[in-house]
Amino acid sequence: MTDSTPLFQPLTLGALTLPNRLVMAPLTRNRALDGNVPGPLTVTYYTQRASAGLIITEASPICPEGHGYPRTPGIHSAEQIAGWRAVTDSVHAAGGRIFMQLWHVGRISHPSLQPGGAAPVAPSALKPAGQVWTGSGLEDYVMPRALARDEFPAIVEAYRQAAINARDAGFDGVEVHGANGYLLDQFLRSSTNLRDDDYGGSLQNRARPLLEVVGAVTSVFGGDRVGVRLSPENRFNDISDADPQTTFTYVAVALRPFNLAYLHVLEGDMTGQPVTTPFDYPALKTAFGGCYMANCGYDRSRALAAVADGQADLIAFGRAFIANPDLPARLKADAPLTEADPKTFYSGEAHGYIDYPTLGAV
Ligand code: PHB
Repeated sequence: MTDSTPLFQPLTLGALTLPNRLVMAPLTRNRALDGNVPGPLTVTYYTQRASAGLIITEASPICPEGHGYPRTPGIHSAEQIAGWRAVTDSVHAAGGRIFMQLWHVGRISHPSLQPGGAAPVAPSALKPAGQVWTGSGLEDYVMPRALARDEFPAIVEAYRQAAINARDAGFDGVEVHGANGYLLDQFLRSSTNLRDDDYGGSLQNRARPLLEVVGAVTSVFGGDRVGVRLSPENRFNDISDADPQTTFTYVAVALRPFNLAYLHVLEGDMTGQPVTTPFDYPALKTAFGGCYMANCGYDRSRALAAVADGQADLIAFGRAFIANPDLPARLKADAPLTEADPKTFYSGEAHGYIDYPTLGAV
């Protein structure tokens, strides 16, 4: 590995300079304290990973209705902002950079996780197939309540307020979670949006909620500190689109005027189902025209090749960052990687969270 290998070279990303092209992907870890507040273990966890070119936090709900999993840290209360401030201060002191991923789960929730035991909200009353982990067991998803047209401005405002909260908490920027079958993706993709108002039907209408949210968030941070995550082919959370190439090309072009820090693309399908129509990711990168972050199953050799060939500017790693806090140093040295233990991904405390060793300690 020479010093000029692009994967390990700095990159100017909007308002920031990253020391390398390796990003810690957003990863749900379910370690928040009461009130969905990030605690001291979360400070340690992110600080251990400060050598990432950029850390993107776990998806963090923007409002109480945005929660769909137990113990996910939010960004809508004073206690949560204070908890995250301890995280960002510590990551910055360790020399790192950290964006917060802003999340609303929409229909991927359950009354037991909603304020007042209410039904989750969605573009349309369509029940997702599958089950939700409520913290005390698995339950079938329920029929969501279709949002009224006049409710959406309050959701855009919740995103804007969450961006203000994230700025107050010391984040370097935010990523809008437009992927993986959550609220904004439920509007965007044709299988989950059967509305007949100006938030449904045409592609322009289905993309409107995402673009309104990006407008609100960039009004707080400036486009150069905002990223957007999309997942054109992912069927996770029972979602699909009739024509992903057309849908996501439209979105990528519509995002251009915001001069975003990056577009983060989950390439492929997390569910492992075979892909029927191949998606052209290089075409999506060209349509966007800015910094392109690729994610999903990259290993060292694919990451080296993708960045060297110009297919991606940044590579986001998930599992590898869970188990290797010093991932950039390991990849640079071509050192062995520790395997992540799935049993501790979504539950537990310190074990499997902050006790993975660094290279020298293996
Ligand atoms: C999850 O908790 O399983 C999860 C959360 C956010 C994602 C994907 C998966 O984007």
